[in-house]
Amino acid sequence: MRIHHIAIVVRSLQEARKTYRRMGMDSTREVRTQEKYPGDTAPHAYLGQGFFDPKQGFPVFWAMQPLGRTGPLARFLAQRGPGFHHVGLLCTGLARAKLPFVRRPHFFRTDREIRALLDPSRTGGMLIELLERKFAARPDGLPPFCLSAADHVGVRVGRLAPFDRFFRFLGFTPEAVGEDSEFRMARYRLRGFHVALFEPKKPSSAVGFDHVALPLEGMDVDQVLRALRRFKIPFRGPYRLPGETSIKVFDPSGGEWELLVR
Ligand SMILES: [Fe+2]
Ligand SMILES: [Fe+2]
Repeated sequence: MRIHHIAIVVRSLQEARKTYRRMGMDSTREVRTQEKYPGDTAPHAYLGQGFFDPKQGFPVFWAMQPLGRTGPLARFLAQRGPGFHHVGLLCTGLARAKLPFVRRPHFFRTDREIRALLDPSRTGGMLIELLERKFAARPDGLPPFCLSAADHVGVRVGRLAPFDRFFRFLGFTPEAVGEDSEFRMARYRLRGFHVALFEPKKPSSAVGFDHVALPLEGMDVDQVLRALRRFKIPFRGPYRLPGETSIKVFDPSGGEWELLVR
């Protein structure tokens, strides 16, 4: 179990965005939501956006700006003002778990997730949401991979320094630098898209496009490794990174793809 998100109610998502970006946080896409929880009469209508440390990933500040005046979040804002709303914990085995503290109507599932809200009167006044990402095996028997759009493209370069000017020219923002035993690395961001540059420490003639990284949800690392072995997909790794685990998989012509298990 780990903290997945800390949900806060805000008056203005625009203001929250300015604050979190000034703190150096990255953001997810803004979404407009009309979630209706079982047992609630009005939907939770809000504009939502996640903010997170680009190096750590989780946990995410999930900012919610209520829409309309009648929903539970609008009521929360009117009665208590902006601030902490609930904490979301990512866990597994929720479907089979016995959860004595679950507010009965507040257990629900979709194709993608199971969510349960615990009764705050049993948890010291704190609203806790248990969250399990759920992806059933597909009808064709393939594993339940759920990939998101590319997280980054990895490029091998001769030297990092001249690329700084090039990527700034293109409108990218420098994000992070780092190194390991083999490479010096720099990351640049253009909105939600990242480019990761690698400068080999040992002289190498291999430069240019290297890999695309795809974030993967709904399976843990062991499940992904089992699926790769079962389908005889060559891979290297896993490599633990902050907030995610990287597995390099190789396509039929030996091209490299990176799966980021989160
Ligand atoms: Fe939540
Ligand atoms: Fe990568």
